[in-house]
Amino acid sequence: GYRAEDEYDYLFKLVLIGDSGVGKSNLLSRFTRNEFNLESKSTIGVEFATRSITVDGKVLKAQIWDTAGQERSLGIDVVGFSNRVKDPMAVFRCRLKYRAITSAYYRGAVGALLVYDVTRRATFENVSRWLKELRDHTDLNIVVMLIGNKSDLRHLVAVPTEDGKAYAESESLYFMETSALEAKNVNTAFEEVLAHIY
Ligand code: GTP
Ligand code: MG
Repeated sequence: GYRAEDEYDYLFKLVLIGDSGVGKSNLLSRFTRNEFNLESKSTIGVEFATRSITVDGKVLKAQIWDTAGQERSLGIDVVGFSNRVKDPMAVFRCRLKYRAITSAYYRGAVGALLVYDVTRRATFENVSRWLKELRDHTDLNIVVMLIGNKSDLRHLVAVPTEDGKAYAESESLYFMETSALEAKNVNTAFEEVLAHIY
């Protein structure tokens, strides 16, 4: 039957997290608009996009939030910042602002895609930090999928599939390798997260 564009049964907020340059924004544009950009710029501020899928005859609308991995590390930089800046109130305001942005970003999220780049080991090493921040700001029962993106760059792989899988198992996360470029597993990853939430 007829369904208006914005009719849905459930609205779920998902967040994309992970280091800068791992491909969060391209995973989002691939899933919501079927677009990929080889020269995309680092995300400024917070962006979001939506897409609805149907599961068991119910329309699930995903509202997916995306921000820069770089900006998020600001929280860690504050430590260095407070050593250089002698005004304690400035340090305090900076901390407060970072914490306000972070909690707004995670507020109400029921699913998360924690992304690393299979060609850059450091982005995988940082996954535990992202997971900690996520755990600090969300419900225990949030559905989390660990994603090794850029699987198309086969000859450059620095994180074997087994490593990603083992880490995901040890932390009870779902796991998938994707390529935003080749549109491989992107829909499946988002759909699985939504199906597990529903
Ligand atoms: P920040 O916004 O800075 O946190 O980065 P991001 O995680 O949003 O990364 P973005 O989507 O901007 O992608 C970074 C670079 O990786 C861009 O040049 C993309 O074209 C490239 N890229 C993203 N996904 C893939 C992929 O699956 N394969 C390949 N080969 N390149 C990709
Ligand atoms: Mg981005």
